[in-house]
Amino acid sequence: MRGGGLVLMPTETVYGLAGDAADARAVAAVYEAKGRPSFNPLIAHVADVGMARRIARFDARAEALAARFWPGPLTLVLPVADPAAVCDLARAGLDTVAVRAPAHPLAHALIAAFGGPVVAPSANRSGRPSPTSLADALEETGAFVQAALDGGPCAVGLESTVVGLLDEARLLRPGAVTRAQIEAVIGPLAEAADDARRSPGRLTPDAPVRLDATAPQPGEAWLSFGPAGAGPWNLSPTGDLAEAAANLFAYLRAADRTSPAGIAVAPIPHEGLGEAINDRLKRAAGFVG
Ligand code: TXA
Ligand code: MG
Repeated sequence: MRGGGLVLMPTETVYGLAGDAADARAVAAVYEAKGRPSFNPLIAHVADVGMARRIARFDARAEALAARFWPGPLTLVLPVADPAAVCDLARAGLDTVAVRAPAHPLAHALIAAFGGPVVAPSANRSGRPSPTSLADALEETGAFVQAALDGGPCAVGLESTVVGLLDEARLLRPGAVTRAQIEAVIGPLAEAADDARRSPGRLTPDAPVRLDATAPQPGEAWLSFGPAGAGPWNLSPTGDLAEAAANLFAYLRAADRTSPAGIAVAPIPHEGLGEAINDRLKRAAGFVG
């Protein structure tokens, strides 16, 4: 990574494609590997809050959220403090920066050993589901990396929650930390502007995705949920939203690999983690972004 190389890095959410945040050549290689049509700003991953304070300006809300949820699946968008530490290309030219301290021990060890912030978008090619195992990550962007760390399957399986703290606190991307958990620390979150909510882009399987289905139609793969669910891809037989989140991307991939006429998905309750799951499902169905 010090020479500009890229590494597949496990995190508790999804596998990331990691590179030196300060090195514009490394960041360009990340965009190239993802095949991103546009340069979305990337998250600077840090070892701890001390490293984060060197690159971003923390206010009282940021301190409170970091104290409660780091290391963990929460990303904070803050004013940039050191524009060279996270290069312009990584920030898409903005004077803000997204920071997160991941909880996975291998991610932490890699960033701490590297000694500076690391960009790590999800390791999928643009427009595809995020990889939640090393095998999936290698299939997506393995051809572009110099090394890969095997951290096993991702415990959370959904990307981090992104909260903007520039003026009003805003939920920019629902994720593993729920709205209610954040509001319990800093009070009510404002709604994100439409374009901000679109920012993570689409993650489209090849097969069309049909949401809120009560049963599969002939030829459709079936992602079920709950005790009444059936088939090989029951997101959670007990109706547990955390288990459903952890299985979501792997099951979408597995279903898509069977080249079905479509993928039908059972309704997922819109509470707690269900907000993030339904956000990703809407993207998979092409309704957002
Ligand atoms: O769980 C995760 O966050 C994973 C793992 C690997 O850590 N990473 C990830 O990165 O999902 P990426 O690049 O796929 O998503 C970055 C998100 C996007 O929604 C992007 O728009 C937002 O963070 N973001 C980054 N910088 C921003 C900024 N300055 N202002 C607003 N949004 C920003
Ligand atoms: Mg992504």
